[in-house]
Amino acid sequence: MKSFSEEVSLALSRRNKRLSSKWFYDFKGSKLFEKITKLKEYYPTRTEKKILKENRIEIANKIGKHAVLIEPGAGDIKKIAIFLSSLDSPKKYVPLDISEDYMTKISKGFKKKFPKVAITPKGYDFSSNTKLPFKVNSSENIIIFFPGSTIGNFEKNEAVKFLKMLRLKFKAKKIIIGVDLVKDIPTLISAYDDKKGVTAEFNKNILQRINNELGGDINLSLYEHLAIYNKKKQRIEMRLKSKKNNNIKINGSKYFIKKNEEIHTENSHKYTIKSFKNIANEAGWKIKKTWIDDKNLFSIHFLDLAL
Ligand code: AVJ
Repeated sequence: MKSFSEEVSLALSRRNKRLSSKWFYDFKGSKLFEKITKLKEYYPTRTEKKILKENRIEIANKIGKHAVLIEPGAGDIKKIAIFLSSLDSPKKYVPLDISEDYMTKISKGFKKKFPKVAITPKGYDFSSNTKLPFKVNSSENIIIFFPGSTIGNFEKNEAVKFLKMLRLKFKAKKIIIGVDLVKDIPTLISAYDDKKGVTAEFNKNILQRINNELGGDINLSLYEHLAIYNKKKQRIEMRLKSKKNNNIKINGSKYFIKKNEEIHTENSHKYTIKSFKNIANEAGWKIKKTWIDDKNLFSIHFLDLAL
């Protein structure tokens, strides 16, 4: 797996400049994402929370007893709280996040709220092939909770690989997954290009990290936040577009960025019920139940093993 520094130097030397969206999430980026989830234009979080709340009893029944709940990319861990109290003697909750310091801070509040639930937060990059930071016991009722449409960050083939990996490596028996739906383009665009400019700041945080962590000298004001919808690939693409020719110096290396050149920073794939079913089945999972809000904005699927 490439480090941030390796990925940046490679990306900036290429004609097709592409960085992984996982680099958004240092402490500051995680905070900015939390701010995004509260924006009027950003419908996914509040819609998903509403679906979880309205169906928490059914979800809890499907999860069953003594669950070991694992949440990759847990972020502010607000969603699990919606159905946690409805569960029948959950065994433990394992939130995983790429930003270890953010995770540590967030889990303190959680411990106060749910003193009875064993929680073992870990810093972990779920997109890496590295060893799990905890032991899995395949005889346990292992449930993966993967909300927020984080799955949308993967290309389709990567999403299939990820869903397979949850079974093979995490020993998951069931998955509860939030998936954002294909919808009208203006609604999508405004969710990723909000009026207050929070998403723009979130996008530029990747450049800020290059400056802070790698000793870069990027002038952030030379870059413009772009959110476009790629209709063919059914995804939002975020990019940073250079307004002028400029040089970037990072720790002795120099990169030239042309006027109007773009650095691609994120894909956020949107699914239909059918297109998600296809990738879930391809990965060996069966969709047991799908919940959708009344405006058809967002979906939550309950998967179990297709035996
Ligand atoms: C955390 C990946 C689900 O794709 O909607 C929000 C990230 N990017 N605004 C998404 C994001 C810009 C978000 N995910």
